[in-house]
Amino acid sequence: MSKLLVIGGAGYIGCHMVNQLLKAGHDLVVLDDLSTGFENAIVEDDIRLVIGDVGDRRLLDSLFSDEKFDGVLHFASLIQVGESVVEPARYYRSNVAKTLTLLEAMVEHDVGPLIFSSTAAVFGEPEYSPIDEAHPQVPINPYGASKYMVERMLEDFDRAYGLKSVALRYFNAAGADPEGHIGERHDPETHLIPLALHAVLGARPPLKVFGRDYPTKDGTCIRDYIHVTDLAEAHLRALEYLWAGNPTTRFNLGNGNGFSVQAVLDAVERVTGQPVPYEDAPRRAGDPANLVADSRAAKSILGWNPRYADIDTIVAHAWAWEQKRVKLT
Ligand code: UFG
Repeated sequence: MSKLLVIGGAGYIGCHMVNQLLKAGHDLVVLDDLSTGFENAIVEDDIRLVIGDVGDRRLLDSLFSDEKFDGVLHFASLIQVGESVVEPARYYRSNVAKTLTLLEAMVEHDVGPLIFSSTAAVFGEPEYSPIDEAHPQVPINPYGASKYMVERMLEDFDRAYGLKSVALRYFNAAGADPEGHIGERHDPETHLIPLALHAVLGARPPLKVFGRDYPTKDGTCIRDYIHVTDLAEAHLRALEYLWAGNPTTRFNLGNGNGFSVQAVLDAVERVTGQPVPYEDAPRRAGDPANLVADSRAAKSILGWNPRYADIDTIVAHAWAWEQKRVKLT
């Protein structure tokens, strides 16, 4: 059993991670400021939830003095591309400056290794597809740039201070815990699958399909949807990889299959038995036409194997969660 600090453990991906780490028998402390996460996403009673800011150096000093951690997983960040263009200062403060504070505290207290949540947005407009780890990194918005800057810091911190880390670039995280206890929840919600399911439930207006004039088969954008439970699994593998003494690196995490917005709406119709109410809308600024991961490195080096690669399964788990949520509220 290892003792781990999960930062941002009350958020969407973080709470699925907490779930999986507990199942794997680890001892956890969750640090979350609850600015976008939800306290009741931590459904287990026996977890220490510290409500606080990852950029609070005194809090980090006291956490790292109180307990000896065998690793840190850092999920806490702002994630909206459009918002990052309008409010870059907030993004660089939250995602870069606060992470720098964390890294400095980890070095000073000799805590490690670190698993860092990165994103496909570090690549910008793809030059080729699927996108492997060698693809040039030219982020086109402050959100992607903020994650790219941290990736650079991680390399430098390893070289200078020996802090070991793995950055995991998520493509489109989707789905929900197969047992249905937790699921996706953002406020405001901007992601395709929950918005489509809310439209089916009549809880929101018809979905806006952002652009039908992309250079793809049906004209809508293509994304690589990866089940949140599979993403969490990759973090466990990455921890084991670092505990085994392997070097700092980064991996792209997706299924390697692209689904267009229209193909996702078709999957929602198959799963729910109801067509998604939608209307066509102009393109959303900053959306690349096609983002698909080449995850062969994560598969071969980490031994990672996504279990829920099928889009209907991803949508079915999200649907089960949304129906439960509707009953809860
Ligand atoms: N879309 C719609 N209508 C909507 C919402 C989304 O048509 O109401 C489309 C988008 O244009 C896009 C696709 O559905 O083509 C997926 O959109 P999401 O907002 O669900 O996801 P993104 O691909 O925009 O974003 C994801 C992550 C981000 C990350 C980005 C990396 O959620 O955090 O990938 O490129 F930055």
